[in-house]
Formats: sequence, C-alpha cells, structure tokens
Amino acid sequence: MKSYKIALIPGDGIGPEVVKEGKKVLDTAGKKYDFRLDWHSYDLGGERYLKTGEVMPDSVLEELKGFQAIYLGAIGHPQVKPGILEKGILLKTRFVLDQYINLRPIKLYPGVECPLKDKGPEHIDYIVVRENTEGLYTGGGGLLREGTENEVAIQESVNTYLGVERCLRYAFELASRRKRKKLTLCGKTNVLTYAFGLWERVFRKMAADYPEVETDYTHVDATCMWMVKSPEWFDVIVTDNMFGDIITDLGAITQGGLGIAAGGNINPQGVSMFEPIGGSAPKYTGLGKANPVAGILAGQMMLAELGEDTAAQAVEDAVMKILPVMSSQSAGRMGMTTSQVGDRIAAEI
Ligand code: IPM
Ligand code: MN
Repeated sequence: MKSYKIALIPGDGIGPEVVKEGKKVLDTAGKKYDFRLDWHSYDLGGERYLKTGEVMPDSVLEELKGFQAIYLGAIGHPQVKPGILEKGILLKTRFVLDQYINLRPIKLYPGVECPLKDKGPEHIDYIVVRENTEGLYTGGGGLLREGTENEVAIQESVNTYLGVERCLRYAFELASRRKRKKLTLCGKTNVLTYAFGLWERVFRKMAADYPEVETDYTHVDATCMWMVKSPEWFDVIVTDNMFGDIITDLGAITQGGLGIAAGGNINPQGVSMFEPIGGSAPKYTGLGKANPVAGILAGQMMLAELGEDTAAQAVEDAVMKILPVMSSQSAGRMGMTTSQVGDRIAAEI
C-alpha cells in the first residue's frame, strides 16, 4: 500500500480542532482509496513559544524537509506579539522550503451563502496564484532614528527575475490546463513601475509560449472591484505576495468566508504545505464552533498535490454534499459542531 509521510502542525487557536477533522476525512479517504497517511505531529505555535521561548527550532525545520507534505492548522496567539509566530513559523517555512507558489482557489460551492448580489457558483470559480517568497514579505528595509520624530521606516519589495519567472510559469501552466485558459496578471504598473514593470515584461514575453492562453492585465485596485462586480471574468489570477494576500481575503468572503477558503504553499520540486487561509480565531478556540471545511479542503489540495486525484475528488464531492446541509458557513452558526461536520463528510466518503 502506498504511504505518505505527512508533518502535522495543528498550531494555535482553532487550528487543532480543524486539522483533527481534516485528518479524520483524509484518513477515511486513504482507507477507501488504498493509501496510508503516516502523520508526525509538531507542537509548534504560541503555547510552545510561551513555555519554552522556541518558535521554530532549526532541527524541526530540517526535519520538515524530509516529509512529502505539511498539513497546518493555524498560527497566531493572543498573548504573543503579532509577527513573532507568523514570521517565525509560517513565513520561515514558506521561505526556507522555497514554497514559491501560494495557490488559492476561489470557488463558490452550491448551497453556500454569497454576499454578492445575483452571483452564484457559475460566476465564482477561479484561482489565485500568489507569489510566496518575495515582494514585501522578505523583510527588506529597516528603521532609522527609531522612536523619534525623525523616524524613517523603509519596507522594500523584492522582485527577482527568477522569482517572477517561476511564478508566472506556474500560472501559465495552470491556466493552460484549465478549461477556460485565461490568465490575468494583477499588478500596479501605473505606480510601482519597477516591480510590476518586471512582472509585465516577463508576462508578455512568456505569453508567446502559450498561444492557447488568453492573457489580461488589471491593476490591483480594479481587480478588487471586478472580483465583486464581475468575478466570472477571472479564471487564473497571478500576482505578487502582498497583493495576493489582500485579494485572496476578498476572494474568500465571496466564496463563503474563511471557514471555506483553503490554500497550498507549493514548491513543485519540494515539500509543500497546506492550510486553511483563515487565522487561529482565538475567540472560538475549543468551542466546537469553527468550520472545518477550509481545513478539509486544504487536505483535499494536499491529496491532489500528492497525486491521489481520485481521493481528492471524493473529498471535494463529499464536502459539496454537506455544505448545503449546514445552516451557515460561519463559525457558531453551522447548525452542527466542528466534529459533526467532519463526521458527516467522512461518512459521505
Ligand atoms: C496568509 C496570512 C499570512 C500572510 C500572515 C499570517 C503572515 O495572512 O497566509 O494569508 O500574510 O501571508
Ligand atoms: Mn492573508
């Protein structure tokens, strides 16, 4: 029987209860489709940091390189200063494992409440390819005369040819495999002329390699508007790290919210990490109110990346059966508990 070594990082807040349901569903899919997930759990997160001062030991980071995938719950703790865990665990893993793509499907499933007037599943089915290792996230810049009235804060966006090229390549490949074959570059070429000048030049040049892919460009501000007004225009959107972060939260709310939205931090040649795109939601911790669907769909993306396509499809089908039965996709209003949602999806498989 095929077996996959998976690192499990439940993390903070609702993370543990959400990945528990994900694990339940994925193990069920494994039984049905004849593979085994060999889980190794890591207690990274706020509690460990508060107890030991450790955020991400180098030895753990080294070990993570030996897995076939990483499955993560959520990172962020109310008693820990913002940035420490996010940068020390999440961003560090993305960077060190060179997970240069953050893949975020924006798909409205039937039966899910959508805040957009007159929009349904037939209008909202696209995928954002967010660059995941560069841009404003590299930590470039610094402070001068900190704490004085002459303070200078510089936060630099790093865009390399290598980083831009490989991200665009991934997006073109993805678009060329999809039914609609349309790729939109989202940037800000009217102001950030250096950074998005590079993106646009490489984009235009690469387009010649993919004559079957229709290309389009929109500024990020207009992208936000079209994501609300005409989401059906989009098939694949490719963008930089910061813009990708922002537009995918907007996208998430159009597909039913952070209880649904999943993502993958992908290194196509290495170890990828899958996570719900929402946070640790501390106020819901341990109450059985969190929606585990985002975590379960992150697991579904993990199965697809591992090559277990049939099982991945079965998980998605099972989720689609349960979503319309839930009274809402928001935490605490689902009409069932976190583990009941997991049980029902597993039973469907
Ligand atoms: C996300 C999150 C992270 C990001 C934070 C927690 C650092 O918002 O995965 O979108 O900005 O990438
Ligand atoms: Mn985000």
